[in-house]
Amino acid sequence: MSQPLRIGMIGYGFMGRAHSNAYRRVNNFFPLAHHPVLQAVCARDKEKAQAFAETWGYASVETDWRKLLARDDIDAVDICAPNNMHREIALAAAKAGKMILCEKPLSMNTAEGEEMCRAVEAAGVRNTVWYNYRRVPAVSLAKQLIDEGRLGRIFHYRAQFLQDWTISADLPQGGAGLWRLDVNAAGSGVTGDLLAHCIDTALWLNGSITSVTAMTETFVKERKHNLTGKVEKVGIDDACAFLCRFANGSLAIFESTRYARGHKALYTFEINGEQASIAWNLHDLHRLSYFDHKDDSLIRGWHNVHVTDSDMPYMDKWWVPGLQIGYEHSFVHQVADFLKGLETGEPTLPDFRAALETQKVCDAVLKSAQTGQWEAV
Ligand SMILES: NC(=O)c1ccc[n+]([C@@H]2O[C@H](COP(=O)([O-])OP(=O)(O)OC[C@H]3O[C@@H](n4cnc5c(N)ncnc54)[C@H](O)[C@@H]3O)[C@@H](O)[C@H]2O)c1
Repeated sequence: MSQPLRIGMIGYGFMGRAHSNAYRRVNNFFPLAHHPVLQAVCARDKEKAQAFAETWGYASVETDWRKLLARDDIDAVDICAPNNMHREIALAAAKAGKMILCEKPLSMNTAEGEEMCRAVEAAGVRNTVWYNYRRVPAVSLAKQLIDEGRLGRIFHYRAQFLQDWTISADLPQGGAGLWRLDVNAAGSGVTGDLLAHCIDTALWLNGSITSVTAMTETFVKERKHNLTGKVEKVGIDDACAFLCRFANGSLAIFESTRYARGHKALYTFEINGEQASIAWNLHDLHRLSYFDHKDDSLIRGWHNVHVTDSDMPYMDKWWVPGLQIGYEHSFVHQVADFLKGLETGEPTLPDFRAALETQKVCDAVLKSAQTGQWEAV
């Protein structure tokens, strides 16, 4: 008999939808001993939360997340609220003995993240952070190829995450939909929002980062704040670029901005090893580019692997070879792995402790941008 995992979700925005979709679909495709039950959704506006609950099939609604945590019919809390709420909710959820699935970035900074790690570890509650790009099949395949040693010694890692949605100086900061521009809600700008994804993938694929040197810029210095109605200083980084060294001796360059006109969500990475190179691009997420130096034939060159065959990561659970999946499936995979972890007892990575490593790199990047110096991680 399949065991229920009763979910209480906090926040019903972009990620609330992505996660709800994943909970609803996972058991249709993955044979698992547990199934999520959409027990309650929590948001401050009761009518909107009710409408969301009806659309997605949640059994009940709360308007105060503390009440949600006090319920004994909730097994796992899913934190889909802005970054400045992660710590407080996670500490209370751990105290209440709930499992926690927390959106990225783990926290506003390393100090908060360490407190959160200690809380889940002391309470012994299962936890994971939604760095979902690890579970795009092409990215999972990249991990497999690297772990098999096919790239040999790695020399270079480069990643970009480019957007263009905050170029207008008339865009306000703060409040619903625009909390990402408010440093008090977001903690940082593109560093914690976008580079955190690039860093998590990089740490997973290429090991730890030892030192960084960074520059950031805030192109629009003041914006009207939606919550106060006043024009206020903008505290986030609009753009960030950093160089770093990995423990394995490789060199890296990372760049993110919300001012790259024409780019909406262009996440790319490339890794150059002695024997092979790998490249991936979110706009073509089911493909992995691969160059094999051992191929000495006249048709050597970059291969474009369509990651849809059933021996490729996660793909045996979906359609037939040649038919691809998309962005939302990375969240289905994370739920599947979380449920699998309930059976095996294995952590669902990145857990809080693993996600804290990304936080440490983000903090070092922001510090370096201020000091103008190389900073150790
Ligand atoms: N994994 C990813 O790729 C990814 C993508 C987008 C966002 N995120 C992360 O997910 C989190 C949410 O981002 P989003 O894009 O879904 O934001 P969003 O603005 O779309 O949704 C935020 C939700 O939080 C709710 N909320 C705010 N204050 C609340 C409170 N006091 N009580 C209950 N609910 C409250 C809002 O009502 C809203 O429903 C952020 O931490 C963000 O960094 C991750």
